Amino acid sequence: MRGKFIVFEGPDGSGKTTQQKAVASALCSAICECEPTTGEIGRQIRRALGGEVDCAPETLALLFAADRCEHVRALEKLLDEGKTVLCDRYVFSSIAYQGLELDTAWIAEINRRATERLLPDAVVYVDLPTESCMERIARGRDHTEIFETTERIAKVRENYERAFAMFPSLKLIRIDGAQPPEDVTRDILEKLRGEGLI
Ligand code: TYD
Repeated sequence: MRGKFIVFEGPDGSGKTTQQKAVASALCSAICECEPTTGEIGRQIRRALGGEVDCAPETLALLFAADRCEHVRALEKLLDEGKTVLCDRYVFSSIAYQGLELDTAWIAEINRRATERLLPDAVVYVDLPTESCMERIARGRDHTEIFETTERIAKVRENYERAFAMFPSLKLIRIDGAQPPEDVTRDILEKLRGEGLI
């Protein structure tokens, strides 16, 4: 039987990566994947994100789409082998983040090859209010930076809603990330079980 593909999304500070790992350890044989990937294009993306190489926002968006095209091939293999795959970020992140600077319809278009081939069985969206995201990531930053970051997170959360609306058939599991981490994990597991995905 084909495995289930479950994507974890959320704004910075939402704790989605922690939750992906916690859910994986509660299931015995789930595989954790992430985007950007650990492959060649993923490494290039991380260099660009870290400011080591300068590139236009369009180039970065195309790199994410290319990284995803390669990733989809690997993911399909795992799913065909019947593995449950938990993926930290997918196309919704491109729409949310690259959408800060670029047209979201164009981002969806350059990702169409990937999304036509592989949409998740469910997206676990770990969300919490912008102010709470900030509280979790703000330490050690000055005031201007905090203001900029707050604006950015608010926009990312808005763009996530646009991204989900672009895929009406998507199974979207909304999770309140403001709860204590163990409660968040229990909530995710309950909802995934309720959907028959685990
Ligand atoms: P990630 O490794 O999840 O970092 P973090 O744990 O800090 O969230 O993602 C790295 C960054 O890449 C993150 O800031 C979001 C960004 N990103 C995009 O801008 N577009 C994308 O398509 C993806 C997958 C990630």
